[in-house]
Amino acid sequence: MVRDALARPLRDLRISVTDRCNFRCSYCMPREVFNEDYPYLAREEILSFEELEHLVASLIPLGIEKVRLTGGEPLLRRDFVKLVEKISAHDVEVAVTTNGVLLESQAEALADAGLDRVTVSLDALDNETFQKMTDSDVDVSVVLAGIDAAIAAGLTPVKVNAVVRRGVNEHAIQDLVNYFRGTGVIVRFIEYMDVGSSNSWRLEEVISAKEIRDILLEKIDLMVIPPQDASHVAKLWQTTEGDKIGFITSISEPFCGDCSRGRISSEGKFYNCLFAENGFNLKPYLRAKATSSEIQELVSSVWTKRSDRYSELRSEPEIEGRIRLPVEMSHIGG
Ligand code: GTP
Ligand code: 5AD
Ligand code: SF4
Ligand code: SF4
Repeated sequence: MVRDALARPLRDLRISVTDRCNFRCSYCMPREVFNEDYPYLAREEILSFEELEHLVASLIPLGIEKVRLTGGEPLLRRDFVKLVEKISAHDVEVAVTTNGVLLESQAEALADAGLDRVTVSLDALDNETFQKMTDSDVDVSVVLAGIDAAIAAGLTPVKVNAVVRRGVNEHAIQDLVNYFRGTGVIVRFIEYMDVGSSNSWRLEEVISAKEIRDILLEKIDLMVIPPQDASHVAKLWQTTEGDKIGFITSISEPFCGDCSRGRISSEGKFYNCLFAENGFNLKPYLRAKATSSEIQELVSSVWTKRSDRYSELRSEPEIEGRIRLPVEMSHIGG
């Protein structure tokens, strides 16, 4: 098993399969930047299904246990189900993070193709806030139907990711928890992050996990669940009826110490960190038909030198105030 410079294994591989999305969430793909003039990747620039499968198969021996397919919006990738089928043929857990718009029509086929689980991004239950946050005219009921279809297809436990922004969707915190009570869906609140280069992030807009919990505690009781696996990003709590609620505390309580996540962008660059500015380009090697051991060798040599821990360092002098140009979240997934 490969370990980085801080002794962290490479256990999770997060693969972005497209840099496009049918939403324009202002914290991720603001429309002013991601408009018709944005240089989206051309079809031939993104990795093919065969290249992705070869990559996954090559990296499993390094210790990969889970592959998460992301985007942009992964369900927009043509024949996405076929990719899931190819990846699921290998000995790894396969999960997808999606905005849920196309989930109702694809859930069953994805489950049949071997998908294990889905995580759905959903920041509010009222249409007005939902449409404002996603900058779309999609009705929230479409995403809710997608979640129902995922549960029916057994893609469980379904997780819901909600990014909370001050002054925008605080009211959704209680709504989401109430709505999903008793369904087995795990609602996870994400602290708004300074990810990418275009969302004009401001610390004042972050609502910390502690504040979110205090809002919930006004109406319900919550107990902490002791962590099962240090490398999980969400800290779990539960209601008296056993509904699990997660908090992803990238800002208030970073979790780099156990970060075992490597990321592949849709054009085939390997990134050590969600906040990285540069990745190692694997595409020329994949296109030149590099063998599994050659691919393994390349990724091992990148990972063994890895010392990234951006979230822990973000407020330190060497980072704060420096002009950085990190890769966009839509290129490397969440
Ligand atoms: P499971 O626990 O298997 O469900 O996976 P996960 O929690 O890693 O997946 P998910 O994509 O749902 O991650 C939730 C969110 O947490 C992401 O969308 C990001 O916003 C955030 N996140 C995930 N990994 C990292 C990370 O390595 N660093 C930081 N700072 N944030 C992360
Ligand atoms: N801060 C926190 N979470 C974000 N996501 C996208 N951009 C941000 C951000 N700036 C979340 C999405 C989705 C996951 C892929 O990442 O809501 O759930
Ligand atoms: Fe699309 Fe997800 Fe980014 Fe929203 S957060 S723009 S749904 S990729
Ligand atoms: Fe991992 Fe980077 Fe996130 Fe820290 S900031 S948890 S190193 S991806």
